[in-house]
Amino acid sequence: MGYGTATFGYPWPDALPDMIDEGSIARINGGRHYHAIFRVTLRSGEPCILKIEDKSMGTLFTERQTLLWLEKKLPVPKVHHYSDNGRFEYLLMTWIDGQLACDYVAQDGQPSLGALLGEGLARVHRLVADAYPTPSLLPDDCMELVRHNISTRPNEVMEVAKTNFAATSLDDVLRQLEANKPQASEYVFAHGDYGLGNVLIRDGQISAFIDFDCAGLADPYYDIYYALQSFKFNQRENEIDDFLAAYGVDELPKDRMRFHHMLDLLLL
Ligand SMILES: Nc1ncnc2c1ncn2[C@@H]1O[C@H](COP(=O)(O)OP(=O)(O)O)[C@@H](O)[C@H]1O
Ligand SMILES: [Mg+2]
Repeated sequence: MGYGTATFGYPWPDALPDMIDEGSIARINGGRHYHAIFRVTLRSGEPCILKIEDKSMGTLFTERQTLLWLEKKLPVPKVHHYSDNGRFEYLLMTWIDGQLACDYVAQDGQPSLGALLGEGLARVHRLVADAYPTPSLLPDDCMELVRHNISTRPNEVMEVAKTNFAATSLDDVLRQLEANKPQASEYVFAHGDYGLGNVLIRDGQISAFIDFDCAGLADPYYDIYYALQSFKFNQRENEIDDFLAAYGVDELPKDRMRFHHMLDLLLL
């Protein structure tokens, strides 16, 4: 029944035509190039979002596992369907109203963007991470990718490392990284991509944290580093002081920030 096997060039899982109203399917632009995102309405009338990912480019499995784990802990989309046909993965979850944090401008009496995102991240990091279901350790995953870049693109890595960290050799790059690597005992559950495009705000409050593709266990400065990059990228640097104050950081630890800066640049 329903819309058969091919819509927008994707084969759709058999379960979806029973769940989704065909006339409601609209592709959303934006987001990463390696998945397609659709806004859809369930036959029950509930608005949802459907992500389809080409498995040769990435996976939605971490996001799905993380959303299930977070369901009663944080405001996050509820998972309605997940399937994997070997070539594509499909994740159907609730649409949550709100504006992206990058578009938020505080009205009279509302908290600043920095304060909202700082408190929001503190809330994420306060979760008890012991029972988190995926084994991903973000600094280690990133170091693995850096090692891969070192073996496949040594000249580019060396150029970046020489210019930015005065590294003398590829071994020196790895030594510097290892020397600054945070202790696993300090790890928390980290969002993994805590930027202004991945938090929704409504009526001066966070209505949802989204996009848990890259979630995993990491030291808290993993998220803090990427949040600061995102404030800068979105030309909202003036919110950084409020962000750090609301999170509860007095002074950024230099070694930790250097470690994440190195990883960021060496991922090329
Ligand atoms: N559950 C949701 N509710 C409302 N909007 C969403 C939801 N999930 C995603 N979006 C919208 O789709 C965009 C891309 O989704 P996201 O999960 O961030 O994927 P990407 O990995 O491509 O950044 C978001 O920036 C947001 O505008
Ligand atoms: Mg996103």
